[in-house]
Amino acid sequence: MSRDVVAAMTAYTLELREAAIKLNQNESPTDFPQELKEKVLAEMATRHWNIYPDFESMMLRGALAKTHGYDTANVLVGNGSNELLAATIPTFVGPGTPVVFPKPTFALYEKLVAVAGGIALPIAVDPSTGLLPLDEMLHAIDRCDNAVVIVCSPNNPTGGVLPGGGIDAMLATGATVLFDRAYGDFAEDTMPPLHDRLVTFSTFSKAWGLAGLRVGWLASTASTCREIRKVKLPYSLNIISEAVAATALEHPEIRTRNVAATIAERARMFEAMKKIEGVTPFPSRSNFIAFTTQHNVKDVFNALHAGGILIRDVSAAVPNALRVSVGTPAENDAFLAALKQIMKAEGRRMNRGMDESCR
Ligand SMILES: Cc1ncc(COP(=O)(O)O)c(C=O)c1O
Repeated sequence: MSRDVVAAMTAYTLELREAAIKLNQNESPTDFPQELKEKVLAEMATRHWNIYPDFESMMLRGALAKTHGYDTANVLVGNGSNELLAATIPTFVGPGTPVVFPKPTFALYEKLVAVAGGIALPIAVDPSTGLLPLDEMLHAIDRCDNAVVIVCSPNNPTGGVLPGGGIDAMLATGATVLFDRAYGDFAEDTMPPLHDRLVTFSTFSKAWGLAGLRVGWLASTASTCREIRKVKLPYSLNIISEAVAATALEHPEIRTRNVAATIAERARMFEAMKKIEGVTPFPSRSNFIAFTTQHNVKDVFNALHAGGILIRDVSAAVPNALRVSVGTPAENDAFLAALKQIMKAEGRRMNRGMDESCR
């Protein structure tokens, strides 16, 4: 029998559906350059695949440290930032630890907190503000001893960010802050300074367009990294992923280009969505836009999918809401045209229904 806490949980799931246009997982619409893929793979073909990788991933950690002005001891890398979250949360959260986080947010946090035995203290997010509820989070932290805060800015799935000075304000309470900046590039953020009670998580899955390679990293002080390292699995990064991520760092223009294209398209999509009757997009600083619709979300979601466009139904987290990733201009055009048409058709269907019920 599994533990009660596990038996009561649901697994992290994603409904698998095929679609010509895939805008459901906040991936980059732009693949990693083909010539760089081929270069790394040619190099990897000369390596011994029967030998374990360096279990400390010193090469990539060193490259990340150099890029950001840290020491290698300030950086840990993992099989996606998910793996690092899975190691870090139980490093700081044990039975009875109060854990403050905005809700809705990335579903994985709450699951990892539950498994670790922490006490979840969710703070409601109002997605229409474009901001995370910093004051309410600070009040919640103040009411606890030794709180841990988990915050993702920009927040998934709502898109809002922490108000300026938010990380410092949370650290000033004495709390431990786990700061997930998976989408931080799209908000043009900067890495916060290192602090013993701050762990900052980043990923190559979004702005770098490397979700398929599974590479994440975290930054903190050497002593905090040492503690997390005790919990983290060794050898979690394979030689190919490590080499691709190190190659990416040699080409910062890839990230810059992806981010600029996404920010421009996000602004265009947001304005166009505002003009579609019955659609209300929430302000987003990320590579996705959450929005509510006047009509049944499942119907809108299914109608988009029938037209070959897959987005994410986030209505379990935000009432009546869907979330669309920012894609290529052509993908976004297709989404906007389909959404406009569906909302019109749904509106007509509703009016017909009302006319019939009034007869
Ligand atoms: C907020 C947030 N953090 C982390 C991740 C996972 O990132 P990775 O692919 O590095 O595991 C995601 C993935 O969508 C996410 O939304």
